[in-house]
Amino acid sequence: MRKAVLVTGASSGVGLALCKRLLEEDHELHLCLACRNRSKAEAVCEALLASHPLAEVSIVQVDVSNLQSVFRASEELKQRFQRLDYVYLNAGIMPNPQLNIKALFSGLFSRKVIHMFSTAEGLLTQEDQITADGLQEVFETNVFGHFILIQELAPLLCHSDSPSQLIWTSSRNARKSNFCLEDIQHSRGQEPYSSSKYAVDLLSVAVNRNFNSRGLYSSVVCPGTMVTNMTCGILPPFVWTLLMPIIWLVWLFHQKPESLNPLTKYLSATTGFGSNYVMTQKMDLDEDTAEKFYQNLLELEKHVRATIQKRNHQS
Ligand SMILES: NC(=O)c1ccc[n+]([C@@H]2O[C@H](COP(=O)([O-])OP(=O)(O)OC[C@H]3O[C@@H](n4cnc5c(N)ncnc54)[C@H](OP(=O)(O)O)[C@@H]3O)[C@@H](O)[C@H]2O)c1
Repeated sequence: MRKAVLVTGASSGVGLALCKRLLEEDHELHLCLACRNRSKAEAVCEALLASHPLAEVSIVQVDVSNLQSVFRASEELKQRFQRLDYVYLNAGIMPNPQLNIKALFSGLFSRKVIHMFSTAEGLLTQEDQITADGLQEVFETNVFGHFILIQELAPLLCHSDSPSQLIWTSSRNARKSNFCLEDIQHSRGQEPYSSSKYAVDLLSVAVNRNFNSRGLYSSVVCPGTMVTNMTCGILPPFVWTLLMPIIWLVWLFHQKPESLNPLTKYLSATTGFGSNYVMTQKMDLDEDTAEKFYQNLLELEKHVRATIQKRNHQS
């Protein structure tokens, strides 16, 4: 049976790239594009079908910043699908981003320069507004609309036979310091985007706690820095092109080995058609055994050194 995949915000940027990649991995997917703009979605659907004629690509119109739209789309999906195997919760906004020039210049000459460029911490403020539902727009779009979507789609996601997966597009810009449980919509702050992405991280963890027993699993990804409609709202495309060498240098020096999970093996793999990818595998061991083994090696090292020293002394 075809795997069924739903992608929100599939009309451009990360979502569109993701759809192309998913179809490259599995030509026979049923991919459902969840987009607010039907004509954009139809153009994307046509292009995807032209390059992957074996796939089934369909559209559901949904504006995640409007709860009526989310309810209507959920009903439609429940009529059309028996189950959804993967849901990519990717649609997102960063409205009217303003670059904090003062923070940029003071950061440039501080020890935090690499951190500042790789996370945009303190660099970006946004102007949020209130939606027709009376909620903060960034919160409703990036978090709450998606939360309601998964609540509504639970019958398609929770199965005892094989698990379904949610994959949220979060960001490195998600910061605890910008999130407050007393103001989850970030109505009083100036960095609603960062707050919303931190909320996404929290929500994913909570979904796992509450839904794993019902066969639904959730994870969070960050696409890195991509030049999309969103980032072009911050700086014009030519400035991004000029900045690319600096971003590359920051990336190069920022590869912290401690950011890799020590209990995960990263496997380089190749598909039957020759394209390369990386997959992860949890290692079947526990840290106590690893530590005991290490201590054994240290003991053996001591013993071998002593033996060699003794032999050298005798000869
Ligand atoms: N670009 C980056 O460097 C970067 C870094 C980290 C995380 N991200 C995350 O990646 C995700 C995609 O962003 P992007 O960079 O690809 O930007 P983008 O090109 O602007 O794409 C955003 C997508 O979300 C859709 N969308 C926005 N508001 C919506 C709503 N109310 N209802 C339904 N769909 C809506 C847009 O639809 P329309 O086409 O109709 O506008 C578009 O398809 C976001 O969650 C963003 O936070 C991006």
